[in-house]
Amino acid sequence: MSGPLILAVETSCDETAVAILRGPGELLVSEISSQIKEHRKFGGVVPEVASRNHLAKIEPLILSAFGRSACSPAMLDCIAATRGPGLLTSLLVGHSAAKGLAIALGRPFIGVNHLEGHLLSPFFGTIDAPCRSVNLIVSGGHTLLVEIDDVGSYRLLGRTVDDASGEAFDKVAKLLGLPYPGGPEIDRLSKFGDPTRFDLPRSMSGSADFNFSFSGLKTAVRYLLPKLKGDFLADLCASFQEAVVDVLVRKTIRAAAVSGVKLVTVSGGVSCNSRLRFRIAKATDDAGFELKLAEPWLSTDNAAMIAYAAAERFARGYRSNLAEDADPNLSLV
Ligand code: KG4
Ligand code: ZN
Repeated sequence: MSGPLILAVETSCDETAVAILRGPGELLVSEISSQIKEHRKFGGVVPEVASRNHLAKIEPLILSAFGRSACSPAMLDCIAATRGPGLLTSLLVGHSAAKGLAIALGRPFIGVNHLEGHLLSPFFGTIDAPCRSVNLIVSGGHTLLVEIDDVGSYRLLGRTVDDASGEAFDKVAKLLGLPYPGGPEIDRLSKFGDPTRFDLPRSMSGSADFNFSFSGLKTAVRYLLPKLKGDFLADLCASFQEAVVDVLVRKTIRAAAVSGVKLVTVSGGVSCNSRLRFRIAKATDDAGFELKLAEPWLSTDNAAMIAYAAAERFARGYRSNLAEDADPNLSLV
């Protein structure tokens, strides 16, 4: 394969990640150094701990990516990094390191929106370039429905008005005494549970807009919990998960129908959820939409998706101004 060689860095939250990509499709290396163990003892991500870990790991990870891909800095055509949204002190580490590398090498720099990384990730490794579609982004920090027209041309259809879906998984898991991050734990336990045992709220599922709300569901679990006795954990996990998935699937299908697209895509950490994958596959099939799901290894935070978004932008002539800084509230649209 041919194409520009791009090194990308991702440090928006608690994963330090570096990837090197040739063109839009040949991934030479994707390294992720997870900090989950460090944050687990606090029950969630502690920004100060995250940025200190990024600082310690970023240089060895970049050197290791060069070593494993047999690439040298001089071979790079472009350097990219997540610019936002995310934790400012985490973003600053990766964004500054990548910008410094670009300046030292005299190469162009592209600051990538983390959400664009997730948004385009279902197209990575496929023969299709990003095209007209409705995409559900479900992660720890975000839940939104976005219509893609082309790379860089996005329309926000709806978003959560309170908690993100992954945040709801993590907070409910914490209430249940499960370790952080809670999404994979709830997914695992739900396989042994009855999703119909507890009738939990599906907030805003009937509203005409494409917004979501998950804080009422979390509160419903909090009030239900003290009343429960005996063996309820797997049933409660399955009932909670079903309530989240119900709303996500229903709104996504309706958004796709209203937008008149043929393709639905799903990305972000929560798109690893086995029940969501099963239900969205069935619903899109029933409604006659094509479906592209981000592969699980590309769904949680990684630098390959940032490199891919940068490659698509690089090919269209996009370059960032080096005066731009990391932005914790960077918006996608
Ligand atoms: O995309 P991501 O790595 O980080 C953000 O950009 O926020 O998403 C992390 C989120 C966490 O909330 C985690 O609990 C959730 O994705 N998650 C899952 C599953 N795997 C990860 N949620 C439900 N089911 C899963 N299997
Ligand atoms: Zn993410």
